[in-house]
Amino acid sequence: MHQRIPFRQPHIWTVSLLLGLGLVAFALVVFASPAQAAPSYGHAAQEDQPANDFCLACHQEEGIDKTLGSESLPVTINPTQFGLSVHAGEGILCVDCHTEISDYPHPTVRSNSIRDYQQTYAETCQECHTDQYDAAHDSVHQAALDEGNENAPLCADCHNPHTQPRIIGETSGQLTTAARVEIPATCAKCHTETFDIYKNSVHGSALADGNTDVPTCTDCHGVHNIGDPTTASFRNNSPALCADCHDNEEIMSKYGLSTNVLETYVADFHGTTTTLFEQQFPGQPINTAVCSDCHGVHDIASVDDPQTGIAMQENLLTKCQRCHPGATSNFPAAWMGHYEPSPEHYPIVYYVDLFYKIFIPAVLGGMILFILTDIYRRIVNRIKGVKHA
Ligand code: HEC
Ligand code: HEC
Ligand code: HEC
Ligand code: HEC
Ligand code: HEC
Ligand code: HEC
Ligand code: HEC
Ligand code: HEC
Ligand code: HEC
Repeated sequence: MHQRIPFRQPHIWTVSLLLGLGLVAFALVVFASPAQAAPSYGHAAQEDQPANDFCLACHQEEGIDKTLGSESLPVTINPTQFGLSVHAGEGILCVDCHTEISDYPHPTVRSNSIRDYQQTYAETCQECHTDQYDAAHDSVHQAALDEGNENAPLCADCHNPHTQPRIIGETSGQLTTAARVEIPATCAKCHTETFDIYKNSVHGSALADGNTDVPTCTDCHGVHNIGDPTTASFRNNSPALCADCHDNEEIMSKYGLSTNVLETYVADFHGTTTTLFEQQFPGQPINTAVCSDCHGVHDIASVDDPQTGIAMQENLLTKCQRCHPGATSNFPAAWMGHYEPSPEHYPIVYYVDLFYKIFIPAVLGGMILFILTDIYRRIVNRIKGVKHA
């Protein structure tokens, strides 16, 4: 009997009014809620979720820490720095990441060291950053973690979750220059030696000056999916990696550098065999020289650098000797360089080449002419001889 009531005429208005009021109330609740900024992450506003202010009221206090085994973890969170972070800006709550904590005292922590404690947060970012989480799955870093290497990086080692700024430009969709320049320092937390070498290289020093044309760690290694750089395929593909930029006229013209480097390399005996080799034995490490065997990897210098530049024959010789142990001082001359011989580059080769280009056709042509005229003369003589006989 009661079910029929809503369908009676007079009640339609009441129902509509109630529905309308309900909608307005719903909209008010939803739009006023701070969690609305990230609706796609499935965090519907919940009244019982503590706001950041609740947590920060205690956590902004300087000098508080948590004892973990014999170590002590500082637990102060700077509210200003947090407020400037991309996550605060997006309305992400402390409790979106700290899902176990909602009140004080907090649930018991079982970790006995800081590193162990940090590892309990290894899955925190997955929910909102699935792409990066999945990419990291097959990386050398994940492999090291899986082998129990505690020093391998978790997301939070490269991205402080409480201070992480926005690094992808909102309009450009590209990594910002400031973030790009910072990358080597991020890796340097652990790869100190590599960083110290790289920062003085022709690429690294330019990056430090804000040049975004030069390669940083992640251009050659990848970011979340860093692979093993000691494999055969990494080595075999490395010339293509360098050529990505060094064959690019738009980039290289700014620095007056040749864009012929890959072509001349492939034309060289080392390069030709690299190409053939890759076709014949995919997956096998190439034993002939690739770009980095002559130029170095993290320590690439300007070729004219008086100390290490390989335009200097004695510097180049040491590179050749690694694979040609018997090579002596005139050996590097066998490498013709990236330049086609010209009056400016390798003039002797150029002129010798030119000489032969003129000399050989001239000599051959002369000889052929001589032989032809000789034959002609003999034939004529014979005919004449026959007539006279
Ligand atoms: C009444 C003060 C107080 C409030 C409110 C508070 N904390 Fe804490 N919190 C502490 C203190 C003190 C410690 C360190 C020692 C301890 O755990 O007792 C701590 C430790 C922590 C730790 C590190 C140890 C652990 O338990 O994981 C985290 C993470 C943390 N708090 C997050 C939060 C979050 C998130 C909120 C808000 C929901 C919050 N806290 C609210 C006082 C507080
Ligand atoms: C984007 C996720 C995220 C947000 C948002 C976040 N945290 Fe954390 N927090 C973490 C992770 C991950 C760790 C583990 C520490 C690590 O690996 O450096 C952590 C660690 C902590 C710790 C332990 C001390 C430390 O720095 O390692 C405290 C205390 C803490 N968070 C409090 C807070 C408070 C308070 C807020 C809100 C104002 C907050 N967190 C917001 C992810 C987050
Ligand atoms: C070894 C350091 C390192 C680790 C570990 C790492 N990142 Fe990154 N991440 C970076 C760098 C560097 C960038 C800048 C991107 C670039 O170079 O293109 C970045 C970029 C990002 C971005 C911006 C979007 C993008 O893909 O460029 C997000 C989001 C991100 N990382 C999340 C994560 C998450 C989640 C994890 C853990 C699964 C993680 N990162 C682990 C170094 C790291
Ligand atoms: C509740 C969802 C959520 C969680 C959990 C979360 N993030 Fe984020 N994060 C965001 C949102 C939203 C942005 C804004 C940019 C976007 O839309 O990707 C962001 C941005 C970032 C950026 C900058 C990317 C850019 O576009 O500039 C990095 C780096 C990042 N997060 C790392 C992390 C790491 C590391 C963790 C785990 C400790 C984490 N985030 C956990 C929601 C989250
Ligand atoms: C928190 C420490 C840490 C950070 C930060 C870190 N790495 Fe690593 N990395 C490791 C560990 C540990 C290994 C595995 C052990 C090893 O081979 O040295 C490793 C391995 C590697 C390898 C493979 C080395 C090999 O010999 O196979 C490369 C390449 C690499 N990292 C690049 C990077 C780059 C690029 C960055 C910055 C975007 C970075 N790492 C940031 C700790 C770190
Ligand atoms: C121009 C490309 C390039 C850049 C830039 C670069 N790398 Fe490498 N990296 C390589 C190559 C190629 C190898 C393999 C070297 C070999 O075969 O011996 C390598 C090897 C490595 C290795 C493992 C072997 C070793 O030398 O320790 C690590 C770790 C590494 N790089 C980290 C980094 C870090 C960190 C940065 C930034 C500071 C960086 N790389 C910048 C190309 C690059
Ligand atoms: C992301 C683009 C990029 C990649 C990848 C790259 N380079 Fe470069 N390289 C540059 C730029 C730009 C310069 C000029 C820097 C300057 O002069 O300030 C440069 C400079 C050089 C120079 C110095 C030339 C001179 O004498 O001044 C050499 C040698 C060199 N690169 C070799 C390599 C090798 C070998 C690789 C691969 C292992 C490589 N580069 C990968 C962009 C790149
Ligand atoms: C990474 C090792 C490696 C480096 C470095 C290297 N070479 Fe070679 N080179 C080889 C191998 C292997 C061959 C044999 C190729 C073949 O026959 O398929 C070769 C072949 C040659 C040949 C052809 C004649 C012969 O002996 O078979 C010359 C000439 C040569 N290299 C000169 C140089 C010069 C000059 C340098 C230094 C600028 C140099 N190489 C650096 C590995 C290297
Ligand atoms: C066998 C050794 C060797 C190999 C292999 C080699 N180079 Fe070179 N490269 C040199 C020498 C020597 C010079 C300086 C003299 C010259 O320009 O030929 C040079 C010069 C350069 C320059 C500076 C050009 C300029 O205009 O001043 C660049 C850039 C360069 N090489 C990049 C590469 C790249 C990229 C590869 C791989 C595709 C490569 N090189 C392979 C020996 C080598």
